[in-house]
Amino acid sequence: MKRTKIAVLVSGGGTNLQAILDASARGELPHAEIALVLSNHKKAYALERAAAAGVPTAVVTKKQAGSQAAFEAAMMAELVKYGIEMIVMAGFMSILTRDFTDQWTERMINIHPSLLPAFGGEGCYGLHVHEMALSRGVKVTGATVHFVNEIPDGGKIIAQKAVNVEPGDTPERLQRRVMEQAEWIILPQAVEQVAAELAHREDDLNV
Ligand code: GRF
Repeated sequence: MKRTKIAVLVSGGGTNLQAILDASARGELPHAEIALVLSNHKKAYALERAAAAGVPTAVVTKKQAGSQAAFEAAMMAELVKYGIEMIVMAGFMSILTRDFTDQWTERMINIHPSLLPAFGGEGCYGLHVHEMALSRGVKVTGATVHFVNEIPDGGKIIAQKAVNVEPGDTPERLQRRVMEQAEWIILPQAVEQVAAELAHREDDLNV
């Protein structure tokens, strides 16, 4: 059976990466091979999680690259080096331009901590998303996995899961609940779904 080679792009703590690694260790991602973890921050804790799981890591920073174009080219060089066929953005805090995203159409997915299209787009990241949801007074929020295109949080939706807002929620409490009840569940599932689709497409091409 063909397995799709995946790079997970990270910037921070990497709890979503951990959810993917754990699902893979449990045998729940039979069509996915986590082949690389790529960070745009040298000190991202996610890199330690990858190393502990025996997954190769690479770091590419915008500062070192000098420009957005050079940054994206350096990322692409790492992805090619590891034979990557699919990208998972799991808390990757850098916007990629169309030059990059066009090369990964329907091969790059992202997890976003709201029910898109609510609370998405430029500036809607991390804790801000939950602050916005609370100040608007929504009673239900959640997480979305979507394909990545040139519009921030604008690609086609693959999976969503709703999470209730509880009385007295702070952005931090809500963030944690959305991660536990939605992100860590739907991201590994979506990784397997898209990886399987790509693997089958590849099989069809080879017959
Ligand atoms: C998550 O809330 C994710 O939805 C958002 O950034 C956060 C990353 O957390 N895009 P982690 O690094 O996976 O712990």
